[in-house]
Amino acid sequence: MRVCILAFGCQMNDYDSGRIAGMLRDRGAEIVEDPKKADFVIVNTCSVRRHAEDRVLSLLGRLRAWRKRDPARRLAVVGCMAEREADSLAGRFPHVDFIVGARRIAEIGRLYDETLSGAAGGTVSPIMAIGESPMGDGTDFGRAPALRPFPHQAYIAVSRGCNKRCSYCVVPSARGPEKSRAMNDIEEEARRLAAEGVREITLLGQTIDSYGGDLGDGSSLETLLRRLYEIPGLLRLRFITNHPANCREDLFRTMAELSDRVMPFVHMPAQSGSDRILGLMRRGYTRRKYLRLLDAARKACPGIGIASDFIVGFPTESRADFEETLDLVRRAEFQSCFLFKYSPRPGTKAAEMPDDVPEAEKRIRHAELTALQAEISERLNRARIGSVEEVLVDSPSKTDARQLAGRSRSFRIVIFPGATDLIGSLVRVKIEKATALALYGRIAQ
Ligand code: SAH
Ligand code: SF4
Ligand code: F3S
Repeated sequence: MRVCILAFGCQMNDYDSGRIAGMLRDRGAEIVEDPKKADFVIVNTCSVRRHAEDRVLSLLGRLRAWRKRDPARRLAVVGCMAEREADSLAGRFPHVDFIVGARRIAEIGRLYDETLSGAAGGTVSPIMAIGESPMGDGTDFGRAPALRPFPHQAYIAVSRGCNKRCSYCVVPSARGPEKSRAMNDIEEEARRLAAEGVREITLLGQTIDSYGGDLGDGSSLETLLRRLYEIPGLLRLRFITNHPANCREDLFRTMAELSDRVMPFVHMPAQSGSDRILGLMRRGYTRRKYLRLLDAARKACPGIGIASDFIVGFPTESRADFEETLDLVRRAEFQSCFLFKYSPRPGTKAAEMPDDVPEAEKRIRHAELTALQAEISERLNRARIGSVEEVLVDSPSKTDARQLAGRSRSFRIVIFPGATDLIGSLVRVKIEKATALALYGRIAQ
């Protein structure tokens, strides 16, 4: 069987796609990138914004003909949208063989076997596995994906789900309540990965600051970092995503203490600079508290890179609210930001409010914020010219195969000429040029 996994959404979904690939490879499947060359297509879906769902719907429409052309072909829909929209997907796309929600990824191997042995096959109605798994307590994290974007870099999910109730967000309904993975399991996995040659591990969680809270054994992000810090061969540790309401200043002190291996970078989405909008979003902090947290981070870890997310055009967001977001972005001096236009999601609290900022206005605010952030990113990057950055080399550069691309300690993209045998190692690069998106330089002598 040649299997193609098409993934939408965030790193957690990419991580799950990697796990699925591992499970199916263990069953003899060959993983292919091109759906046209596949006998089995698995679509791993995202529900976070309407646009993500629309892309899945149009893909499934196109796969209808593909599935029908050869009766031996199989098609599955998994992930967050599968969880939230299982019934409507089954009704609209009867050519789908099985639907598995984001909480039951571990069951895909079994369903794959059943589907191939003909238990489904006819596809009058897909087999469904959604909601909390009846087979276990849902804490089955499986192994970290065997297929990785780079052999020297790995992700480990340390928690799944989310206990927050941000009023605009589907993640809690798609992935369920937060469950942390035992620290011993994470450590064991990290040791195995390091022994396989992994040099950098990124820990994944929706609100990684609350890691361990549900375990009741004193585990926390800080204690976890201290444990992983000791693993021989691991050069770099990273983690995403922080939540400003949960983030403790103690984390920054720990990062500073372990700074030779824990990289100075946090992704801590602010979402808005207006306290009124933050209240409606139910984020649980004010702009003042957020800015104080950034000060604490910078004081403890000078040079730390800080990235953020913002949503523009949340219900009732006025021009004055938006100006507060612009002002926060100016003050915060983020290294980079992900900027989104508000998209009402059925079933969320915010969707009960009218989506009253016109699309044209959302577009204007999005463009304004994008331009402001590009200016800031470029200014901060240009300030690195002349400095020497320690870079973990990832791959040949996408735009110029004669150059290498890697990441600085603070997660900036660095591009420089060099031989491919440097991939996976640390080099020192003297920066000569900078844009809003990347630094360019030469290996320092
Ligand atoms: N757990 C992370 C975010 C996960 S979703 C956190 O709390 O920060 C990734 C980003 O998508 C969010 O940070 C938010 O900026 C954006 N997002 C989520 N729901 C959205 C919606 N309904 N419309 C527009 N953007 C949204
Ligand atoms: Fe969504 Fe909020 Fe949870 Fe992030 S913290 S996943 S935005 S509910
Ligand atoms: Fe991620 Fe999208 Fe699900 S952002 S958690 S794949 S809804």
